[in-house]
Amino acid sequence: MLLAIESSCDETSAAVIHNSVALSNIISSQYFHSKYGGVVPELASRAHLQTISKIISEALSNAGVSFSEIEALAVTSEPGLIGSLVVGSNFGKGLAIKYKLPIIPVNHIEGHIFSGFLRDETPKFPVITLVVSGGHTAIFYVKSYNDYEIIGLTRDDAAGEAFDKIAKLCNLPYPGGPEIDRLAKSGDCKKYNFPRSMITSKDFDFSFSGLKTSVRYFVQKNFPNGIPDDVIPDIAASVQAAIVEVLVTKTINAAKKYKVKTIFIAGGVSANSSLRYEMKQQAEKNNMIALAPEMSYCMDNAAMIGFIAEKKFLENKNKYNALTFTVSSNSLRASQYKRK
Ligand code: KG4
Ligand code: ZN
Repeated sequence: MLLAIESSCDETSAAVIHNSVALSNIISSQYFHSKYGGVVPELASRAHLQTISKIISEALSNAGVSFSEIEALAVTSEPGLIGSLVVGSNFGKGLAIKYKLPIIPVNHIEGHIFSGFLRDETPKFPVITLVVSGGHTAIFYVKSYNDYEIIGLTRDDAAGEAFDKIAKLCNLPYPGGPEIDRLAKSGDCKKYNFPRSMITSKDFDFSFSGLKTSVRYFVQKNFPNGIPDDVIPDIAASVQAAIVEVLVTKTINAAKKYKVKTIFIAGGVSANSSLRYEMKQQAEKNNMIALAPEMSYCMDNAAMIGFIAEKKFLENKNKYNALTFTVSSNSLRASQYKRK
C-alpha cells in the first residue's frame, strides 16, 4: 500500500495505490487562476500549502486506510513549477521521517505515460503513448514499465498551450481547452482551414506556434472590432480539428512505424472529446486499439504517480530510503527520455 502526492502545477492531489489499483484519488484544482488568465506560480504554491494536509487525509479516509498500513510514499519531483513541487515533495519527506517510510521520487511525465494502465492492466506492451497537456506534447514508444523512449516532441508550444492561447485570442476564459471543446460541439469544423503544421513530416515531432499565429492574423483581419458570438463555435471547431488531426495522424503513424497495436492518450488534453473520438476511430481503421484514461486520470493526479512508483518500489524496495533527492523544473527534454 502506497500513498502518492502530486503538486507539480495547479492541482493538489493525493492517492492510495495498492496492487496497481487506485483505492482513492483526491484532486483539488486551483480554479482561481482563471481570473489571471494563467497559472500564477507563487499563488499556486501557497494554495498547495493550504490544501495538502486535508487532501492527504481525505485520500486515506476515502481508501479506508490509516498510516500504519502505508508501506511507502511517492511524490512528483519533476518537471513542474519549483514552488509547487517543493510543497508536495517536502510534505512527503516530512511524512517519511515521521512514519519512517521509504519515499519514491517520480517524474510527472512518467506518471502520464503509464496512466492508461490504471485500473486495467489488460493492454500488453509495447504501447505508443501520446502525452498531451498544457506543458508537454510528446510521443513515447513504451516497451515496459522501465523501458521507454521519446520518439516525437513539440518544437515549440504544447497542444494544451495552443488551445489556451487561442482561446485567449477569442476572449474565452482560462483554461481554454475545455471551453474550445464545449463550443466546438455546436460549430462547423470545416468552416475555416487552419494550418496542420508538420503533418506530412516523416518524424513524429509537432509544432503548434504557427497555428496560434495564423488564428491571430485571421482574427485581426476578419474581425478587427471583436469576434461576433455566433462565429466563435466555428473558430473553436476549426481550431480543434486542426490540432486533433495532427495529433492523431502523427500518433497513428508512430504506431505503424513501431508496429504497435495499442495506443494510449494521456495528459490534460486527452480529455478532449474530439481527440478521444478521432483517435479511437483512426486506430480502429488501422486495426489498432486507442485507449483514453477516465477523466480523473487524464488531468494531473496522484494516482498515476503512485501507480508507477509502486512498480519501481516492488523492483527494489531498498532503493528509496534517502531524503536527498531534489525537485527540478526541467521541462521535457529529449535527452532526458532516451531519444533515438
Ligand atoms: O495535464 P494538465 O492538467 O496539466 C499540465 O500538466 O499541463 O493539462 C492541462 C491542459 C490545459 O492546457 C487545458 O486547456 C487542457 O489540458 N485541457 C483540454 C481539455 N481539458 C483540459 N484541452 C482540450 N480539450 C479539453 N477538453
Ligand atoms: Zn500533467
